[in-house]
Amino acid sequence: MSNNNGNNNLLHFDKTEFQHDLISWFEEEMRSLPWREDRDPYKIWVSEIMLQQTRVDTVIPYFTRFIEKFPTIEALASAKEEEVLKAWEGLGYYSRVRNLQSAVKEVHEQYKGVVPNTPKEISSLKGVGPYTTGAILSIAYGIPEPAVDGNVMRVFSRICSIWEDIAKSKTRVLFEEIVREAISIENPSYFNQALMELGALICTPTSPSCLLCPVREHCKAFEEGVQAELPVKSKKKAPKPLSMVAAVLVDENEKLLVHKRPNKGLLANLWEFPNVESQPDYQSPKETLKQFLEKEYEVDVDLGGAFTTIQHVFSHIVWNITVYKGTIKTEVSEREDLKTLSLTDLNELAFPVSHQNILKAFLKD
Ligand code: ADE
Repeated sequence: MSNNNGNNNLLHFDKTEFQHDLISWFEEEMRSLPWREDRDPYKIWVSEIMLQQTRVDTVIPYFTRFIEKFPTIEALASAKEEEVLKAWEGLGYYSRVRNLQSAVKEVHEQYKGVVPNTPKEISSLKGVGPYTTGAILSIAYGIPEPAVDGNVMRVFSRICSIWEDIAKSKTRVLFEEIVREAISIENPSYFNQALMELGALICTPTSPSCLLCPVREHCKAFEEGVQAELPVKSKKKAPKPLSMVAAVLVDENEKLLVHKRPNKGLLANLWEFPNVESQPDYQSPKETLKQFLEKEYEVDVDLGGAFTTIQHVFSHIVWNITVYKGTIKTEVSEREDLKTLSLTDLNELAFPVSHQNILKAFLKD
């Protein structure tokens, strides 16, 4: 029989001692982070979405600015998407914030602005997967749900010496079962946050600091001397390179031509300088660009030389963008998704980092 104080078949260690060692360490060592200042479920939610693919140090200033701008569910629910994207500019994975805003709208409308506190309701919200569900429920509401991300899998693969491939989605389910067994019922918030903190500060991907680890005594991998070999993580396919050609085009009033990306797919609804995939084996990049601008945007241009090349790595592709400058020879017929704007007006729009870099290079040139 298993109970909260004993062991059971999933855990090799004494649960009470493990929880005590982990949580006492966290109480002493936890970093002071802006989303730890209160337990507002909305703030916890925003922080967990930001932290999903982005490092803590990068997230801190974004989180502070985002919460200043959109301090409540209501503020984010009623904000213009353009403004929300601007606040996320540079964080990447923009579907995170589009989903966040639509889920927040749902909470505003269906739940009177109160983030629901059941796994079923919360995980039905857009962009809220099992990890975020567990993080919000445990940290904001004190409900003992596992919050298993890659860091927690790394920590527990070592503690329990588990050699399953953590890149496989079914492996996460195994770790959720383990955490569900191990979690402190009294303080699930600190338990989950302590695991995250341990993964960030001690049980790091390479060269873990085992000598400083508060749960070393419970760690099978340490006992076996295999901590550096865990976790097992199969390599993803290398991202596919794509040759792109782009242009910074100036009109007679020194305004720049920009395009808004479609509302679906990669970098949806962000602004960009006109660009197209080039086919260097078939046609010169400059010619491809010129024809594209005439056909798609009905603008006739004088293209100068290439002034920079920019690389941007996504999870599945790599853009290698050669960028030209040029002047617009005719009047541009503006559309919802095509504008000529001054630099001041450009600053109000959200651009992907690659296109921010294009503008920086242009201004330096
Ligand atoms: N990584 C993911 N969630 C986190 C949190 N709440 N605190 C610190 N690091 C995290």
